[in-house]
Amino acid sequence: MNPYYLDLDKYAELAREIIAEGIVLLNNEDNILPLKKQTRLSIFGRSVFHYYKSGLGSGGLVNTRYTIGIKEALEKETDLIINQQLMDHYSQWIEENPFDEGEGWGKVPWSQKEMPLSDALVKEAREQSDVAIIVIGRTGGEDQDTKNEPGSYRLTDVELDMLDKVHKHFTQTIILLNTGNVIDMSWVDKYHPKGVLYVWQGGQEGGYGVADILSGRVSPSGRLSMSITKEVEDNPAHNNFGSLERNIYEEDIYVGYRYYETFDKDVIRYPFGYGLSYTDFSINDFSFDVNQKTVLAKCKVHNIGEAPSKEVVQIYCEAPQGRLGKPAKVLVDFGKTEIIPVNGSVDMEFSIPFDRFASYDEKTSAYVLEEGRYRFYVGSHIRATELIGEWTSPYTVVEQWEEACAPVVAFDRLKAISKNGVLTPVKEATPLRKVNLDERISSQRPEELEYLGNKNNSLTDVLNHKIGLDQFIQQLSDEDLACLVRGEGMCSPKATPGVASAFGGLTKGLREKGIPVACTADGPSGIRMDCGTKAFSLPNGTLIGCTFNERLLEELFEMLGKELRRNKIDTILGPGLNIHRHVLNGRNFEYFSEDPLLTGRLASAELRGLHKSQVTGTIKHFVANNQEAGRQTADSVVSERALREIYLKGFEIAVREGQARSVMTSYGPVNGIWTASNYDLCTQILRKEWGFKGIVMTDWWAALNFEGEPASRSNSAAMVRAQNDLYMCVNDAESNSGGDNTISMLEEGVITRSELQRNARNILGFILNSLSMLHYTNAISKEELEGLNSEEDDEFDPSSLEYHYGEGPELIVDASVISTNKGQHELFGICLAINGTYDLVVRYKSDLTELAQLPISLYIDNVNKGTISLNGTQGEWKEAVHHIGHLFGPNHFIKLYFGVTGLKLDNLKFQLVEETKPFG
Ligand code: BGC
Repeated sequence: MNPYYLDLDKYAELAREIIAEGIVLLNNEDNILPLKKQTRLSIFGRSVFHYYKSGLGSGGLVNTRYTIGIKEALEKETDLIINQQLMDHYSQWIEENPFDEGEGWGKVPWSQKEMPLSDALVKEAREQSDVAIIVIGRTGGEDQDTKNEPGSYRLTDVELDMLDKVHKHFTQTIILLNTGNVIDMSWVDKYHPKGVLYVWQGGQEGGYGVADILSGRVSPSGRLSMSITKEVEDNPAHNNFGSLERNIYEEDIYVGYRYYETFDKDVIRYPFGYGLSYTDFSINDFSFDVNQKTVLAKCKVHNIGEAPSKEVVQIYCEAPQGRLGKPAKVLVDFGKTEIIPVNGSVDMEFSIPFDRFASYDEKTSAYVLEEGRYRFYVGSHIRATELIGEWTSPYTVVEQWEEACAPVVAFDRLKAISKNGVLTPVKEATPLRKVNLDERISSQRPEELEYLGNKNNSLTDVLNHKIGLDQFIQQLSDEDLACLVRGEGMCSPKATPGVASAFGGLTKGLREKGIPVACTADGPSGIRMDCGTKAFSLPNGTLIGCTFNERLLEELFEMLGKELRRNKIDTILGPGLNIHRHVLNGRNFEYFSEDPLLTGRLASAELRGLHKSQVTGTIKHFVANNQEAGRQTADSVVSERALREIYLKGFEIAVREGQARSVMTSYGPVNGIWTASNYDLCTQILRKEWGFKGIVMTDWWAALNFEGEPASRSNSAAMVRAQNDLYMCVNDAESNSGGDNTISMLEEGVITRSELQRNARNILGFILNSLSMLHYTNAISKEELEGLNSEEDDEFDPSSLEYHYGEGPELIVDASVISTNKGQHELFGICLAINGTYDLVVRYKSDLTELAQLPISLYIDNVNKGTISLNGTQGEWKEAVHHIGHLFGPNHFIKLYFGVTGLKLDNLKFQLVEETKPFG
């Protein structure tokens, strides 16, 4: 029996369970939910026909086998009577107003035109039904932020009119928000809908989770992983968000509820941790104790209502203000119960280490407990807590570090002080960098290993303990070392088709030394394989954040681990651990929360699940990738304290508790240094302090710099020096197609061989423990090998094809009429006059920028010949050459599959490279 067998039904069941647990019920007036049996329902909003299973960009490109939206799921509910006439009306209108796919990467509309409603239509619907459900949909994505405008953060006039008309005729209304990010909710004040739920984006099983909640099969237990304010401007980062050059993090540690609960309670519409169930709970029987290093808390949760349900118990600490100033309350632990039956109860226990409520003091570079009274509260959300115990701590150093990543630009930051018991905002000067970074880097440079030339030892000898890793590295020439830090992608033919990058044994020299090729795939909401291979589409980060359920998440990610294993992928590019600093960040949907503890704990649960299959996740984007606008340029100017307590904390937990083995740095600079070349980040904090042992890779085509110099994509030397191990990505590692400066900077003495050897140690250390090494050493069982990629998803129908005939060494196919929209296939036949090896030259353009990823997968005679990985050209016609290799015989079927919208083709040229002479 193959222990890694992937049971897709079980996968789907687990995903469904998670989806239902992440849905947050915000309003439930008069217990409108769960829906009573035989309720007659009218469903409004075109989004019911186009469920947003995820956001856009790298995190949203999973080729799913199917998607169950809200419509598909509700239609299966035999106890509900759906107004079919209204549904038909919508279908007809949608036929005339089809879904607008936009122009592709970064340019897809975040909402769709809504169907205008007439009073007569709604009145008629009311006559036929008792309850109205309105579905509002929004996507989110890379390369752009949410705009505080209709159709983005705000509802459009037609959507508002829909709310208006439906509420005029119906008193029983339920609003479902199928969004990845939080949107404006001011309409709640005007219409007071009885039911309001964030159903988020749930992946391929999303609709089932929604139906489970609406029908009452599952009582909601999702709790907000973020605060929802009344106005977008209420956000403390609002005035320092969105600049393409520099964003000063003046709000400092006062992010999300840390700000609102301390200074501005009135702006909150729904507080952090809030969410309703179909029952009520009481939490009591508290006990509280403090030992040397931990606070111990116990409580009992009683289900005192009328439905079996789960509850999230949340523990907050109120620390003394001291010299440093503190948020009013900070989440220090949480736990989700299993289902508690009606009248039942469960005991919960918490063991809270001191570092969860310690503060980072820049003066002493230490996490400390300032002297004073620490009070602990337990409850069901941040505004519904009870004091369970308090304890007076002496001044205590919890962890001693060294100053790292401090800002160099002077600015004043927010601080709380207590004035007559009232927490008041004041400004103080932010401590600036004192450490000499160059000195730190040179004093910590590793010892160089002597280069010994080829000793005929392979990496397998290290695996078998015949030689040590350093001994192996001594065989690597400078050229080998420079090639090893290059990743190839997207869709390198050397790894699983369609994945994001390959690394390791990419060149002849490295292969000869027995280094296998490892690979990465996006992430995080399922496996993205641009050649069209089908994969399981998972719920998005925000939904997962709201589950607060570590146990279930670990189980779900155990399934993803098996799926990665089955597709021979070593690491998925996720989870995303960035903090919801501002509600308008376009990629919040990929991230869990505004709270770092919740973020780190959920990420660790995912990693634990993945690690069971000897694959892993790449925690990203390290660090402060808190907006999409200017993500390659905008400098995040942040205090060391805010970095450590807020933005780095989730990563720290994922490394120290979740045993993360792979990290992706972000695109932009933090305190003046691009993160992929930031020594303090990648070496001092990540490895020296947290003990990280693994690889660090750049984000795709990221820029790098030496401090004070402009950033460029070819400055690999800056990356090597910082101990960011892998540049993602180049077309061809061997020929240095990216033109990086590793070798020239080595010759000039700017970087040392010892630094490259250090990267090699990290990369090879990762590979030694990877799935790719298991394959390389034939350590995969026969049963498992038989199961690999066993499922045939694509049907190939060669009938009624158009043929193109080549007379000489070239065959040019007019491609200007081919529809290149996402998910489209193009099939045609070619007949070549000359037998031989061929290249395919694609003439193409795209109005999108060079960061736009526009993959075309090429199949010849139903065999995947790799993915042609194109990028945006900003309107310029370009040619890309793809090596096809030998074509045996004259007739071939060509299939192109387009992964993303936004490409224009001119022609496809099948170009003879070398003729194969007939035998004899
Ligand atoms: C994104 C990453 C992603 C990478 C590879 C980048 O644009 O920022 O999150 O993993 O592309 O697709």
